[in-house]
Amino acid sequence: MTREEGGGALRKLADDVMVLGNGFFNYYVVGKKEAAVVECGTMAGAAIFARQWEELADKPRIKYLVAPHSHFDHVCGIPLLKQLFPEARVVASATADKIMSREKIVKAMFANDREVSRAYVRAGFLKEEPKPQVETLDVELVVDEGDALEIEPGVRLEILEAPGHTPCSIALYYEKEGMMFTSDAAGYPVDEDLISPVFFQDYDLYVETLQRLMTYPTQAVGVAHGVIPEGQKVEEFYRRTLEATEQAFAFIADRLNQGASDDELAQELYHRFIRGGMAYYSRDTMLSSEMLLIRSVRRKLQGTDGKGGS
Ligand SMILES: [Fe+2]
Repeated sequence: MTREEGGGALRKLADDVMVLGNGFFNYYVVGKKEAAVVECGTMAGAAIFARQWEELADKPRIKYLVAPHSHFDHVCGIPLLKQLFPEARVVASATADKIMSREKIVKAMFANDREVSRAYVRAGFLKEEPKPQVETLDVELVVDEGDALEIEPGVRLEILEAPGHTPCSIALYYEKEGMMFTSDAAGYPVDEDLISPVFFQDYDLYVETLQRLMTYPTQAVGVAHGVIPEGQKVEEFYRRTLEATEQAFAFIADRLNQGASDDELAQELYHRFIRGGMAYYSRDTMLSSEMLLIRSVRRKLQGTDGKGGS
């Protein structure tokens, strides 16, 4: 079964780091006897993870489920993962915790998530839609810049604030193996040719976060979606994602200056950036995401991004 068929992408990235998921969404298991799962994904993604987990011979005890930011496709897998690992504690930032405890928002997230499940069933990746016992997202451990998750002796994940994609985003750095788990903070490498920039919160913060993350010695970038940059590709990835970010900003700014409407521009961005795993998300969800990019550019152009523009 290939990655595109929703099949296994289970492999080792380092001695004590495994990647699971279907390649559209990556789950990282960090630790050997005791471990953290970094990324919680969608319900559909968690169902694929559960399938792969079952086939795994040496299973570590999962202590933590890390939700590096609170977008629906990074948290709605939590109920299924909690069923699989009842002892594991859900970890997120304080801002993510606030968002994930708001009933109305959580309800909307699960509605979006069900669209992905349906698309996965239609595509044949899953036989049926996963049905979780609950649809709540309880954060059990709030973490902040400077904290660290001690997984097992020698395995430690440092928490870094990583704003720009969202205000609630964190990255996790595993120094021993040179792994930087960026979630969506460094963009979405769809394939060898395309990185989708996702500066939804703020363009400048997004660029600052990228510039900060790239200063850490890194052997692999644990992106949530798509191709995982490894070895010599790491430096190239950071360079390309910065370029893609600047180019997207310039493109949106140009089209706004030419008088393009937000709707028209969102459609153009949709055609430009939505490929690979994102194509299984609902079109409305993706168009709203593109709208966030447009607003982010407009805020910077108007100097209303809290930094007085540039
Ligand atoms: Fe995201």
